[in-house]
Amino acid sequence: MRLRILCMLSVAVVLVGQSVQAQAPRRARALPEEGERAIAVLHGIGKSGVTGYVIFQQVGNRIRVTGKIQGLAPGKHGFHIHQFGDLTDVAKGESAGGHWNPESMPHGAPDTKERHVGDLGNVEANAEKTATIDQYDRMLKFRGHDSIIGRSVVVHEKPDTFVQPTGAAGGRVAFGVIGWAKIEK
Ligand code: CU
Ligand code: ZN
Repeated sequence: MRLRILCMLSVAVVLVGQSVQAQAPRRARALPEEGERAIAVLHGIGKSGVTGYVIFQQVGNRIRVTGKIQGLAPGKHGFHIHQFGDLTDVAKGESAGGHWNPESMPHGAPDTKERHVGDLGNVEANAEKTATIDQYDRMLKFRGHDSIIGRSVVVHEKPDTFVQPTGAAGGRVAFGVIGWAKIEK
């Protein structure tokens, strides 16, 4: 009898231990982890010759977006996160799908409340065909239903003018899959 009680007690201790363990990571994930990073290395679509990279980093409640893109015609180019990290269509980039829009919103500028999660606005290339990116975003998330991980960054031929349905930014000139990068604090 005493042995049986002892057995039951130890089972109970193990069960309590497991449930504490199971809850711990969930609590830790409630807040975004400072310094977490993701990167998209951009590949030219068709014969665009456009290359570059875009880095996403958690800074407080926002994500800082930095990067450098080379080989772009001088001027503005639509800059979005698209739904799929599928780069198989190297000729036109259509395999990346449409703008990442998990909340079924209209297309918009990055600083508007109603926009696709993937609407990052434009990048602007200088006379040396290079665009340098440094902007902050409140809507991008690394985790959960709206996560940008495994999706793609797409750079367009023309400027995003923020008209419906997708900004009239024309063809796609470069894309890259968003994957985890090393944390930097
Ligand atoms: Cu796009
Ligand atoms: Zn959009």
